[in-house]
Parts: sequence; C-alpha cells; structure tokens
Amino acid sequence: MNYKLRCVHCGRIYDPNDVRYTCPICGQRLGTLEVIYERQGIVNRDFDVEHRGIWAFSEFLPIKREHFEVPLLVGNTPIYEERKLADELGLASLYIKDDGRNPTASYKDRASAVAIAKAKELNIDTIYCASTGNAASSIAGLSAASGMKSIIFVPKSAPAAKLTQLLVYGATVIAVDGSYDEAFDLSMEIGEKFGWYCRNSAVNPYLLEGKKTGAMEAALQLGWNVPDFAMVSVGDGTVVSSIYKGFKDLKDVGFVDRIPRMIGVQAEGANAVMRTFESGKFDVPRDMVAHSIADSIAVGKPRDVLKACKYVRASGGRFVSVSDEEIGRAVVELSRKTGVFAEPAGAAAYAGLKKIHDELKGRSVIIFVTGNGLKDVGSARRFVGKVYSVKPIKEEVEEALRNAGAI
Ligand SMILES: Cc1ncc(COP(=O)(O)O)c(C=O)c1O
Ligand SMILES: [Zn+2]
Repeated sequence: MNYKLRCVHCGRIYDPNDVRYTCPICGQRLGTLEVIYERQGIVNRDFDVEHRGIWAFSEFLPIKREHFEVPLLVGNTPIYEERKLADELGLASLYIKDDGRNPTASYKDRASAVAIAKAKELNIDTIYCASTGNAASSIAGLSAASGMKSIIFVPKSAPAAKLTQLLVYGATVIAVDGSYDEAFDLSMEIGEKFGWYCRNSAVNPYLLEGKKTGAMEAALQLGWNVPDFAMVSVGDGTVVSSIYKGFKDLKDVGFVDRIPRMIGVQAEGANAVMRTFESGKFDVPRDMVAHSIADSIAVGKPRDVLKACKYVRASGGRFVSVSDEEIGRAVVELSRKTGVFAEPAGAAAYAGLKKIHDELKGRSVIIFVTGNGLKDVGSARRFVGKVYSVKPIKEEVEEALRNAGAI
C-alpha cells in the first residue's frame, strides 16, 4: 500500500524515503508521524485472520508483505462477550479482547511484527528498543523467530518474568539503573550511533500501524458492530492512539459506521497523558516522575502524548486514572469473573471501567487486555489469599480445607 508520513504537530507531509522516524522540524517528542495511505480501489473484505493474524489486514499496512512476515502467528486473539459481568455493571454488553494470547503474551507483538518487516525492507539486521518490558520481550521473541539480533534497554525494575523472557530469546539486555524514561533517551543515542533499527514507541511511526490491527480484528469479530466505548490502558499513548486509528481506517473505507469513544486509563502515579489532556494544551506535556505497580504504563515522559490527546478528543472520549490498589484488585476480579488473567497494565483498563461504569449505563463497552498476567505474578500475589501448606496427612488437608472455608 502506498503511503506518506504526516507530522502530528505541524502537518507537514513526508515521503517515507526521506524521513525514517520523526518530523525533523518538530523533533522527536512532538513531531511523531502518522501514516496516511493513498488508497486506490476497493478493499477486499475477506480477512483470513485465523491463518494470517495481523497480515490479514495487509491492505491497511505500510508493508511489502510478501517478503517479510514473521514466522509466528501474531494477532488472531480471542474476544469474549461477558454477559453476566455486563449485567452486574449495568452495561448493554461487555467484550474483552485478550491480547495476552499473542506469541510473547502482549499486545506489543502486533507492532514488533511490523517493525521487523520494516527493518528487513531496509536490510538492517539489528533492532533496538527501550521498553518497560513488553515491547522488549516482544521484539526479542519475534527477532529470534526471524533471525534478527535485538538489543534491549529496560529499567532495572522490570519484572523478573519479562527479563527472563528477553534472555531466553537471546536478546542482549542492558538493564539501566534508572527509569524507563532514562532508558529511552539513552537507547536513542546509542541506537542511532550504531545504525540499528529503532523499535521505540511513538518514534517509529509504523508500530502504531501494527497495533491498530487489534481494533480491526475486534471489529471483524463483532461483525463490524462497533461498541460505544473502548477502554485502553495508557503509558506512552501509542496503543490508545492505534486503537482509534484502527477503527478510523475501517470507517474511512465504510466497514464500520462510527468510532468508539476512547477511554484512556492511566495509573494515578503515572498520569501525564491525562494531565496534558485536561490542561487543553496538548503540545505542552505534563511530564512527571512515574510510579505504579503497573510497570508497563509507569511512564512519566509519554512519547506519544500529542497523538493520544488528539485522537482521544477526536473520538469524543477522555482519560481516567486509577490507583495501584484499584489496579491490583482489578487483576484479581477480572481473573475471577472472566478467567482472563491480565498483568496490572492490562487490568488497569478494567479498573477504569469499574471506576466510571455508572456513566456508561446501557452502553456497549470493549476492554483491551494488553498483557498476560504471568508476566508479573509478583504484583498479583500481593492481592490474593494465602496458600495452605500441609503435611501429606488426610486430617491436615481437611483442616486446611475447613480453614479455607472450602468445606
Ligand atoms: C501491557 C501493556 N498495556 C498497555 C501499554 C500502554 O501502551 P502505550 O505505552 O503505547 O500507551 C503497554 C505498553 O508498554 C503495555 O505493555
Ligand atoms: Zn512537524
């Protein structure tokens, strides 16, 4: 598909052969680029997501796909209708899109697959990224599958499962004794110096294109009936922007008749995008020092803040923030009510719904669960009951069952 790149700040349009990452005039922070397509002809409605995952939507992707697909099935994640929970919350309907079911167990695989295809187009065999964890494990896993090298910068505080995932896949891992925001800035400097391909959120305009397939898949699975609201957790702001754009691209070709109102959910200790949105000055980011148990969205210097604010406003939506306590409880409650075990950042979207469900009475809602709970069992453990340890003696087992209230 032919496309151009447009700066989200100044609106200048670039040929992708001239500019690789961000607008040279507006800079890395505000000058993130949007991919705009020069569509010719009608899009085929026959999307074989089951076999091809995200590549089923190749007519919406900026890729010469015949050469560069990752040999793993990315996307094709399940969507569940939760009737009982919808009734409890007073909603007309509630859907959960479980993207923890991707090859490396997070939404980020959708973006990494596209990044790898792009690196291959450019004949670059090493990809780098700074990440709170999931983008890193995703690019590490998909690089391994594609015979590429990956160099990863993570904050030292990344959960053990995510770090192990990186090492298992053979990535070179640099754990920065600092925040994600510091790891990000360092990675940009070093990656550029060595000429590696950049898979950093927001800076690389193609990541959002991969991520938008989550919305497209959801719309397809719902028979092109789009819910009224979409709940999405927000760190840098790319995922929420991508979900808006996925629905928008479908609306532009007439496959859906509207775009859901996007509700971006942030952690209270890391709500810079929300604060920027509420200030009304989208190009003056309200950066902060970030803290949250939802490590994936513990971002103080959000890189896609302008786009996220513009797109959420265009959808008629808004942002909410939730406490660590609410996120922790949401991990447990979502698991118990639906069987979907989300990592804290994934469950944050559900915590956001719990917070504002009174306002959404009688409406339809989709929650995007962006990461699997096994990524961070340590955080979940703080919000669950204890294990009953016994000797292998029947009486002890029965006593433990009584204590647990199970008999
Ligand atoms: C599980 C999970 N949810 C949500 C997000 C938020 O995405 P973004 O940083 O693009 O806002 C991330 C990003 O790392 C993530 O890993
Ligand atoms: Zn610009």
